[in-house]
Amino acid sequence: MRYLRTFLGYSSTFHILIYAIGRSPEPLAPSFGILSTAEAAEQRKQRMGRSRAPKLPCLRLGLFFFFFFVVFALRCDGGGVTSRYVRKLAATVDMPLDSDVFRVPPGYNAPQQVHITQGDHDGSAVIVSWVTTSERGSSIVLFGTSKDKLEYSAKGSYTRYKFYNYTSGFIHHCTLEDLKFDTKYYYAVGIGYTVRQFWFKTPPQPGPDVPYTFGLIGDLGQSYDSNSTLSHYQSNPNAEAVLFVGDLSYADNYPNHDNVRWDTWGRFVERSVAYQPWIWTAGNHEIDFAPEIGETKPFKPYRHRYHVPYKASGSTSPFWYSIKRASAYIIVLASYSAYGKYTPQYKWLEAELPKVNRSETPWLIVLMHAPWYNSYNYHYMEGETMRVMYEPWFVQYKVDVVFAGHVHAYERSHRISNIAYNIVNGKCTPVPDLSAPVYVTIGDGGNLEGLATNMTEPQPSYSAFREASFGHAIFEIKNKTHAYYTWHRNHDGNAVAADSMWFTNRYWHTTDDTYVA
Ligand SMILES: [Fe+2]
Repeated sequence: MRYLRTFLGYSSTFHILIYAIGRSPEPLAPSFGILSTAEAAEQRKQRMGRSRAPKLPCLRLGLFFFFFFVVFALRCDGGGVTSRYVRKLAATVDMPLDSDVFRVPPGYNAPQQVHITQGDHDGSAVIVSWVTTSERGSSIVLFGTSKDKLEYSAKGSYTRYKFYNYTSGFIHHCTLEDLKFDTKYYYAVGIGYTVRQFWFKTPPQPGPDVPYTFGLIGDLGQSYDSNSTLSHYQSNPNAEAVLFVGDLSYADNYPNHDNVRWDTWGRFVERSVAYQPWIWTAGNHEIDFAPEIGETKPFKPYRHRYHVPYKASGSTSPFWYSIKRASAYIIVLASYSAYGKYTPQYKWLEAELPKVNRSETPWLIVLMHAPWYNSYNYHYMEGETMRVMYEPWFVQYKVDVVFAGHVHAYERSHRISNIAYNIVNGKCTPVPDLSAPVYVTIGDGGNLEGLATNMTEPQPSYSAFREASFGHAIFEIKNKTHAYYTWHRNHDGNAVAADSMWFTNRYWHTTDDTYVA
């Protein structure tokens, strides 16, 4: 298919060139309708030119071959598309502290920053988290399937932390267990004082043909563009859970890592994450390592605020873990924890991959923060050392797709691998590989650091599509063989997909899906 496409591409180039120099007997009107007026004018000009000057067949032939080889050379050096969409240049700035999206909910000691994530390995538990600021309050969650009758309760616990001159509120975490699959639950937090009620829907029981729709967001931050991304994502009525690929609040960009910006971020995203789980990945902006102000314990704010069910998958750290959700098996990896041979993360992943039962969860998805394949001139090759360690496993176990962030732009790869190199054989170029994942960089949430606009040129052959715009993506699993993937830039209407692809499952239906338009 790829070669056919290439041949057709050259054929059309050939046809255009012949036409452009006046040899073609028939215009390509259907394909180039918007240029027809200009082409007609050009034809008239050429006819006039021919009537005044003697024909120069040698010159034309020379021109033809010159242009043909120039175009041939240009087409040979890249297999993908660099979008011609150019985003309006505007500064990316954070929303001020008094923005309405950061508003503290009314009522004494009202729970704020409410967020949920999956609470066990198979999706029948939910972790509910929130913050109270005036006093400790209650760590109990009431819940039930009827809005007016919250018949169950679960008791959680709270934690606090200090960071330089900041002291957090009371951060509560409570796990709701033994939930029924595919069921809408209502829950209430803040028992005893101001009560706030929300709802969520549990996923269907894991199974091979269970449709499920994930959203993809990364590097979100809290700028006006972040707000645009979140609103755009929320406008999709089908998205049921977010796979978040790291870099949450960007509080560390403020003096002394002003943790007030962790609180504002928590209030900003509550409108989505209180109602559907976000699956967390730790990025570099979660490290918060600041020895200059005495803060030497990495990930302190993140660990206190965002709990994940890592123990359920046998992990010894919240930075790498796995969950099953509907027909997907999701592995979260840590770009900023040790991953070399013999490390806890390495040993966990080595034992984890053989456990994935593709008959139960056909779709194997990996989340990480630093991308392995990235053709922007930002964070270039930062993911390379982890790629060297783990890529052979991804090919062996036929990972379907890897989502990463970190680079503040969008990119999707073909199915490629780069695992043949052994120091001495020189085989260090990525090659098409139908057992390999597609690599998507989706660090385009819109944080205050702005867009990554500078790309390596020419576009590498492994890169299928890239564009420097803010946005989010949707991964819509249809059944065990097919999933429809779309990327939505913020500046389009809700239904517009600026990039899309039909995924075929690597285990059940191994077609060459990345080269199909
Ligand atoms: Fe990052």
